[in-house]
Amino acid sequence: MPADPRDPVGSLLEAVVDTAREVRGGEVAAYIPELAKADPDRLGIALVSTRGVVHEAGDAGTEFTIQSVSKPFAFALAVDALGLDEVTRHVGLEPSGEPFNAISLDAASGRPLNPMINAGAIVVTSLLAGPDADADEKFATVRAGLERFAGRDLVVDEAVFASEAETGDRNRALAFLARSAGTLGSAVDAATDAYFRQCSIVVTARDLAMMAATLATGGVNPVTGERVVSDAAARWTIAVMTSCGMYDASGEWLVRVGLSAKSGVGGGIVALEPGQFGIGTFSPPLDAQGNSVRGVAMLQALSSQFGLHLL
Ligand code: DON
Repeated sequence: MPADPRDPVGSLLEAVVDTAREVRGGEVAAYIPELAKADPDRLGIALVSTRGVVHEAGDAGTEFTIQSVSKPFAFALAVDALGLDEVTRHVGLEPSGEPFNAISLDAASGRPLNPMINAGAIVVTSLLAGPDADADEKFATVRAGLERFAGRDLVVDEAVFASEAETGDRNRALAFLARSAGTLGSAVDAATDAYFRQCSIVVTARDLAMMAATLATGGVNPVTGERVVSDAAARWTIAVMTSCGMYDASGEWLVRVGLSAKSGVGGGIVALEPGQFGIGTFSPPLDAQGNSVRGVAMLQALSSQFGLHLL
């Protein structure tokens, strides 16, 4: 792609996409059968500054399901609504060093180790809209919140949702364990059904960049101007992404890339630098930890070329 002198950041993103196209490896997620239909060659990136300027390259407008990238935003909504003390009575803040679907409950407290792994994310969703809310009410709360982060209406991919629900027994088991330990905030079905829908929300790399930029501004969507969560909720969320966002690759990621980030098995990653920008990437093939291979490559390239490492 020729450089565009009117949008140097966009040109730079084009170059990053072109380089990442040469990166091989990874497998499209297949444990949720509907996800296996994703086109492995799709590749996109978007960057939104905290002033609301949008830059993008490649397939930044291609739709895919948000999956675990929803987890930090749901956590932000929960701590905003309930406070950090109440949320952390139910879920911890420690990196697990384990896979995203690990059967991870702290023996003493019964809490999942953190809100970025499935067990912790299901507990977070169980807290939304209160203990008596059903799945519809919980999902309405999380969708409305994600829409405010993205600055637009978002829909569910019903085929992915059906596939998640059909193959979600491990997640149900995690919810039952948390419920028996007293840390789930609602009935099991209400939590898991809302969580499966939450993971099946359709986004683009551009949406993810906007959502991340909203955290990076301290909770205000930089385009709509709407305050979505408090400054404190945004800060706590960025902290959890920094320590736990890339699962059992989180430590390695922090050293090598040094950006607060969160991945999902749909192929998306969000990354951000507080006060500066949010980035969204999309490429479906995943590494062994469930992180997008080309997404990681693009973020690594941006970080090292432009000194974005937070340290
Ligand atoms: O719960 C699951 O297994 C999926 N809906 C989401 C998992 C996920 O995205 C893990 N991320 N890398």
